[in-house]
Amino acid sequence: MMYSILFLSAALASTASAACTREQLVAATEAYLKAQAAGDLSALPALAENVTYLENDAPTDITKGVLSSAITIDFSRSLHDSVECAVFTEISAATNKPPYVIATRMLFTDDKITTVQSVVANDGDWAFNATGQLYWTKTENWDVIPEEKRDTRDVIKAAGDAYLDSWGDGTVKVPYGTPCARLEGGSYTGSRQSTANTCTMPQFPSAFKIENRRYVIDEEVGGLDIFNDFPFIDAAKPDGTSSTNFFRIEGGKIRYIHETTICTNRNCGR
Ligand SMILES: *[C@@H]1O[C@H](CO)[C@@H](O)[C@H](O)[C@H]1NC(C)=O
Ligand SMILES: *[C@@H]1O[C@H](CO)[C@@H](O)[C@H](O)[C@H]1NC(C)=O
Repeated sequence: MMYSILFLSAALASTASAACTREQLVAATEAYLKAQAAGDLSALPALAENVTYLENDAPTDITKGVLSSAITIDFSRSLHDSVECAVFTEISAATNKPPYVIATRMLFTDDKITTVQSVVANDGDWAFNATGQLYWTKTENWDVIPEEKRDTRDVIKAAGDAYLDSWGDGTVKVPYGTPCARLEGGSYTGSRQSTANTCTMPQFPSAFKIENRRYVIDEEVGGLDIFNDFPFIDAAKPDGTSSTNFFRIEGGKIRYIHETTICTNRNCGR
């Protein structure tokens, strides 16, 4: 009994020291959006001097990357993960020249952003159409879920993992909701049947496992993003190309999926 109480309080203490406040994460997201709109890193004071910055998994000089060029942001959605001290933002920049869709995951150490990873999609990436992406994302409802209806982190994460696992192994059961819609680049599976589950992904022609999964989870909106290395699609990247899948989970079931995937050759040569 004594042991378990001690153990529990140690576990709580370590959680408390790792956790961030939602307010801090929301403020950092707002600053990130301002910095990206202006192309001005000084608008993001929480950035650590030694920040690790990656674009499409390649270490990049942050002063020469997309975050240092001014971009017209038409729309954005963000997740705030106060357990992992992480934020995720999906930027729709359809009216920017050139158009972009940018998915960014930022990690904090204490009150500083020590890692920024972006999947930066533009013309030629998988099913890329920023106009379509902007149109469809704006039709979706990602409102805050009432507290008593929220899923746990484990349920949210398991739903997204099952979806990615099912691509290489069709026997994995995926908790698709009805309706469920997927926004792949700028194409929307729910464009004609908005009340149906149009998300179901059949098993791919060859078996594979999607590795290097990096998560951001936000129970308030049933949100999950999984940065990952997606094999198979891009012949030039047999070990996997940079990709993210961004989910909304409601009552344990998948409601929306956004996929952003980078291609070496136009539309991954398909
Ligand atoms: C980078 O900066 C953060 C916060 O400012 C600090 O906690 C961390 O130890 C630094 N890492 C290195 C490798 O210097
Ligand atoms: C991109 O999406 C928009 C809106 O859905 C559509 O009107 C346009 O034809 C699409 N462009 C291409 C090249 O498919």
